[in-house]
Amino acid sequence: MSSFDGVAGAYRRSFATLCAGTVPTLLEVTAPGELHLDVGCGTGDLALAAAREGRRVLAVDPDADMVAATREAATLEVAASAGSALSVEEAGAPLLPLPDRSAGAVTANFVVNHVPDPRATVRDLARVAAPSAPIAMTIWPAAPGPHLAAFGEASRAAGAVPVPSARLVPELDFPRSTDGLASIAREAGLQVGRAEELLWTWRVAADELMAGIAGGVGGAGRLHRAQTGAVRAEIEERVRRLWAPYVETDGALAFAVSAALVVASRP
Ligand SMILES: C[S@@+](CC[C@H](N)C(=O)[O-])C[C@H]1O[C@@H](n2cnc3c(N)ncnc32)[C@H](O)[C@@H]1O
Repeated sequence: MSSFDGVAGAYRRSFATLCAGTVPTLLEVTAPGELHLDVGCGTGDLALAAAREGRRVLAVDPDADMVAATREAATLEVAASAGSALSVEEAGAPLLPLPDRSAGAVTANFVVNHVPDPRATVRDLARVAAPSAPIAMTIWPAAPGPHLAAFGEASRAAGAVPVPSARLVPELDFPRSTDGLASIAREAGLQVGRAEELLWTWRVAADELMAGIAGGVGGAGRLHRAQTGAVRAEIEERVRRLWAPYVETDGALAFAVSAALVVASRP
């Protein structure tokens, strides 16, 4: 059971738009190869964008609802021909359904930070990549973005009961930073070509962000769901107030966010 069980719909309307902020960079650093493997495709933004560029794409995710959401999005795009270049399978690392050295490009957008064994995951990405094929990975840095920092503050002020930590045991964990991600890539025998911080502005309607959290997405979603109705209502009221300074003239929230990007390849 993954932490994304049953949240695909809520994810698509909220945090998927956040994660999509890295898609242009991930496409740029993985020029079309023989086969583009997108690991942990979620609701499919990156896989579809790669297919739209004419790439042959295999998107995989261990969560059945995420696979269904990506397939549905691909089906809607068949008329525009992007869908036909995209296959979607229910699978995950470290059991990726590809032979060794078979992928011309590999992406894992905000996935290595969600798996039970990050090193085994990166080793499997390395296994399926062809020699010198780009393997592009992103993770969130340790410090929460402003949207989640506000949620944490609102939860504490509302007296929310804590939920069990989703942190990995120290032997399996790694520093959630560009350097931390680069070091587990090196441990997997990869050469690191780029290791940098990506910065962008995420624009999202407050109702969509709240729907993602109330729908159970991520640590904030798990915490929110564990509260009584009264505490949930108080958190929502408080967090909307804390988000208010981020509202722009069109009514959407605009958050400055950052991610760690590592692009590596096998020698
Ligand atoms: C934060 S979401 C990112 C989804 C997508 N890459 C995006 O950018 O929107 C993390 C995804 O990783 C998937 N995932 C969890 N464990 C995985 C594993 N062992 N292998 C591959 N994907 C996994 C989840 O099901 C979820 O769809």
